[in-house]
Amino acid sequence: MQDIVRQLAEKRAAAELGGGQRRIDAQHAKGKLTARERLELLLDPGTFEEWDMFVEHRCVDFGMDEQSIPGDGVVTGYGTINGRVMFVFSQDFTVFGGSLSEAHAEKICKIMDHAMKVGAPVIGLNDSGGARIQEGVASLAGYANVFQRNVLASGVIPQISMIMGPCAGGAVYSPAMTDFIFMVKDSSYMYVTGPEVVKTVTHEVVTHEELGGAITHSTKSGVADRAFENDVEALFMLRRFINYLPANNRTPPPFRPTPDPADRSEPSLDTLAPENPSKPYDMKELILKIVDDTDFFELQPEYAKNIIIGFARMEGYPVGIVANQPLVLAGCLDIRSSIKAARFVRFCDCYNIPIITLVDVPGFMPGTAQEYGGIIKHGAKLLYAYAETTAPKITLITRKAYGGAYDVMASKHLRGDVNLAWPSAEIAVMGPKGAVEIIFRNDRGNDARLAELTEEYRRKFANPFIAGHRGYIDDVIMPRDTRQRICRSLAMLRGKKLENPWRKHGNIPL
Ligand code: HXC
Repeated sequence: MQDIVRQLAEKRAAAELGGGQRRIDAQHAKGKLTARERLELLLDPGTFEEWDMFVEHRCVDFGMDEQSIPGDGVVTGYGTINGRVMFVFSQDFTVFGGSLSEAHAEKICKIMDHAMKVGAPVIGLNDSGGARIQEGVASLAGYANVFQRNVLASGVIPQISMIMGPCAGGAVYSPAMTDFIFMVKDSSYMYVTGPEVVKTVTHEVVTHEELGGAITHSTKSGVADRAFENDVEALFMLRRFINYLPANNRTPPPFRPTPDPADRSEPSLDTLAPENPSKPYDMKELILKIVDDTDFFELQPEYAKNIIIGFARMEGYPVGIVANQPLVLAGCLDIRSSIKAARFVRFCDCYNIPIITLVDVPGFMPGTAQEYGGIIKHGAKLLYAYAETTAPKITLITRKAYGGAYDVMASKHLRGDVNLAWPSAEIAVMGPKGAVEIIFRNDRGNDARLAELTEEYRRKFANPFIAGHRGYIDDVIMPRDTRQRICRSLAMLRGKKLENPWRKHGNIPL
């Protein structure tokens, strides 16, 4: 007994030391925390319950039988964040570069299986050199076992990946199948093949950072939802972020009481949308002025900026916000913004998080680049996502809602529950100028006549009343009352029940 207790203490100490002080120092020198330090910051103090600390790899090749570190390069278990249970794994780069062995994968699979059973989110802190090279196919099998679980858990429990070191090769596909990917600037990177292979195959010379760093993925590829300055900020923001999400697809998102009155009036909104329809304004101002405590957690803020997505709360309840941004490309829908918003809408729907859609959209972006890139299929993703959604949908048209984009942006016709408009709303097939140029093609050159007709078209269609007459808009509201009207609508919708017809699954245009 005494002997076992001594061995236990030794094994614990060995596991806690990971790859040893030298490697821990190297980790710190790179500005990175260790796997355990990260979990300490992520979870509520003293709540981490570690599992499988004594698991070791089973590889005997390449001298591996002589090197074994308890825990095998990943710290797993569960703990709480603000009192809610979360399952976690944190890869330990000091142990074989955090590489994934068969045993390492089994540990991750075990916590994923438990998370599914109890209905709690999984958070992965990734810092790994990829497949454990000494193990070969056993390691690949381990990855595939994780991938399979990622897919089965999708839409059942939230899965979040925080990339805090290397993430390369096929290893990127587990994070890619989770709901959100966050990265740390300067110390994390993700790519399918590294700079050396890129150089050999395409002759491009590129650094790790340029190819797959946090800036690349949060501004160019859209793979990452946010890029944080360092480990500490990243983990702090992750704690904040998880507060918006429910534990699973059968429980409501967490309520947080707020001192911000639901009937707060915001008179400055009455002048937010300029009279001149071609003058832009910042849609973020509207978002910040209507949500609880001006608290908005934006996702992908530096990617496809013509659409804004993120979480906020209204009267204490989490909501997803999707908004066109007139400041960028006049707020039009293009390939990137459609994909960005579609995935977000689908996430909200998985977890029944109400979606507030703020519309000021002149249409889909024209041009060969968009057509050749497949805007038809990608734009359809957003249309499909909204149409499929059964979570509460509230739509507010602040100004332009033209053409197909009017339909797409959670219109009444796609089962919008409450569709509101400001008096400045213009709901039409297209803008007055474009419309007149097409209808009155024969008057081309007669500028005075065209100006007169444009004005007539504007008077007739550039308002919310035509849609209002048909009930496509439930009400035209004063901008200052926006928060109150949305809060009331959300309260009314709290008991909403809507089901789509039974099917194995739909076939979203991928
Ligand atoms: C085993 C590994 C390892 C790996 C790193 N190490 N990656 N051990 N398998 N995949 C070990 C190193 O030998 C070293 O051990 C320690 O981890 C730290 O690595 P360094 O190279 O010293 O660190 P650094 O300079 O920071 O470079 C990190 C790195 C590099 C860029 C990740 O280690 C690297 O390129 N590793 C190989 C990456 C790779 O090709 N992985 C396979 C990808 S394919 P010591 O004992 O010296 O500390 C893949 C397929 C997955 O993952 C498919 C899924 C479908």
